[in-house]
Amino acid sequence: MQDHLPDGGAVRKIWVGETDAYRDHLLRLDPESRARRFSGGVSDEFIARHAASAGEVGVVVHGFFVDGVLRGAAELRPYGTGFAREGEAAFSIEQPWQSQGVGSLLLERTLLSARNRGIKHLHMHCLADNKRMQQLARKFEADLHFDFGSVVGEVDPPRSTVLSLMREAMADAHGVTSSILEAQSRLLGAA
Ligand SMILES: CC(C)(COP(=O)(O)OP(=O)(O)OC[C@H]1O[C@@H](n2cnc3c(N)ncnc32)[C@H](O)[C@@H]1OP(=O)(O)O)[C@@H](O)C(=O)NCCC(=O)NCCS
Repeated sequence: MQDHLPDGGAVRKIWVGETDAYRDHLLRLDPESRARRFSGGVSDEFIARHAASAGEVGVVVHGFFVDGVLRGAAELRPYGTGFAREGEAAFSIEQPWQSQGVGSLLLERTLLSARNRGIKHLHMHCLADNKRMQQLARKFEADLHFDFGSVVGEVDPPRSTVLSLMREAMADAHGVTSSILEAQSRLLGAA
């Protein structure tokens, strides 16, 4: 489930207590990636507030970790509370890890989570000249309907099934196991 990732990389959901790691990752983005992630210039304070809000109920952030450090993220944010049918997804990968397949895996996981939560329309605010994001979206054309003439792309994930729920549960279990193993190896390394 972690195939095609750069060396030492792993993808798992971030936990509520890890919003500081999310903030630090977003602050490390180079200026161009930061502008693309937030569709314009934003301050460090804005980023800190945004990252803290990732701990809110319903928000799902998949993280790409390298040696325990968060280097990429995909944020899924339902619109409103309760059983939202629409939501928003946004992606951020630190420059040295871009164009290595991380975004593709994060989008795949995000679509699975959206599907399992009954989200029917997923918006992605993407600058019209963001070729990489457009190419990434095209790989999921079966599930996505994009109109890059505007800055908003919409996806229409298929319904959840027992299998899709199991796939997400298995990915979560794998994420927990790998983070425990990683914490253990860091402890042993420090001893
Ligand atoms: C956009 C982003 C999420 C893509 O993730 P990524 O890990 O770099 O992308 P991937 O390696 O999975 O590649 C996705 C596709 O884009 C293609 N691609 C890679 N670099 C590219 C480039 N410079 N121009 C055009 N296409 C490119 C890849 O070939 C791949 O398609 P393929 O598998 O059909 O060959 C990532 O680069 C990023 O975080 N950028 C800054 C923030 C941003 O733009 N966020 C999106 C707005 S929400």
